[in-house]
Amino acid sequence: MNWWRKLKGKVRLKEPLKNHTTFKIGGPANFFIEPDNPDDLRLLLNLANQYDLPVFVMGRGSNLLISDKGISGVVVRLSAPCFNRLSYKDTYLSAGSGVSLGEAVLFAQEHGLSGAEFLAGIPGTVGGALAMNAGISQKVHRSEFRVQSIGDLVKKVTVMDYAGNIKTLNKGDISFGYRESSLSKYIILSTLMKLKKGSKKQIEGKIKSYLEHRKLSQDLSKPSAGCIFRNPAGHSAGRLIDLCGLKGKRIKGAAVSLKHANFILNLKGASARDVCKLMDCIRKKVNSKFNINLIPEIKIW
Ligand code: EPU
Repeated sequence: MNWWRKLKGKVRLKEPLKNHTTFKIGGPANFFIEPDNPDDLRLLLNLANQYDLPVFVMGRGSNLLISDKGISGVVVRLSAPCFNRLSYKDTYLSAGSGVSLGEAVLFAQEHGLSGAEFLAGIPGTVGGALAMNAGISQKVHRSEFRVQSIGDLVKKVTVMDYAGNIKTLNKGDISFGYRESSLSKYIILSTLMKLKKGSKKQIEGKIKSYLEHRKLSQDLSKPSAGCIFRNPAGHSAGRLIDLCGLKGKRIKGAAVSLKHANFILNLKGASARDVCKLMDCIRKKVNSKFNINLIPEIKIW
């Protein structure tokens, strides 16, 4: 029985996931589904449950490494207009989970809302950023880093659990950690963020400087998944990998970026296997030189 025909949204079979990840890596998904609205998403979850199919939710495919064998299950993307709304009232910004961070930052700037500028240039959706509490860290002193994360801005988040129930969580119901949040056990539908009033010109200036820092320090010209490892407390993973002399280290199509050592680039047709081998090599070198165990920041499916 073709169960997916009951859905309103767009369904693709055997869809190559490399077309949907920033790494340009990933085998096919049995089902790649973009539900039309929350009811359609609920129906999809029920059907997937009935047919015993695992469900994976993807944003813009950043921060993600998908196996070359692909996904034997359902990959869901919340790209329908219903999940991509942006609005504001006073200093509150409401964003659907499928909205890209870039769009959200621009929308805030256009309406003179400040506080989200640091999210400029992070490649992902609002939903993906909330699930993993995306953010940046800036060096303020020798070994002191200032971390800013999307969780700092959150007032409320509306989610659906995997049984199809919708609930709205207040900030106090959610725990946000470094590159993780308790929201990852739900499907995020939308959020309300508290910003503050600011001058459009100043906000624009801040956005420019965040984008500039990124352009100067990161190689954005080749496909990658962003930073591969979390920063260990008090350190920059990129700096540690750099100090091991690993910039430029290559395994087949995958190489450590010459510009920022916590980036692995897909230079030419890299496979997930090449990337995993390179990650293993990096972890071993950093561990033997600094006795620090690097933990992947990217999600591996
Ligand atoms: N550094 C090196 N060599 C390198 C890379 C960095 O010596 O190859 C040094 C830099 O010179 C700097 C320090 O390490 O003194 C920190 O570097 P950077 O400012 O690039 O920040 P980061 O800690 O490496 C973090 C986030 C990035 C985010 C930047 C923005 C993590 C794991 N990374 O990087 O996020 O863009 O701050 O400042 O938290 C991501 O999460 O995917 C990501 C790229």
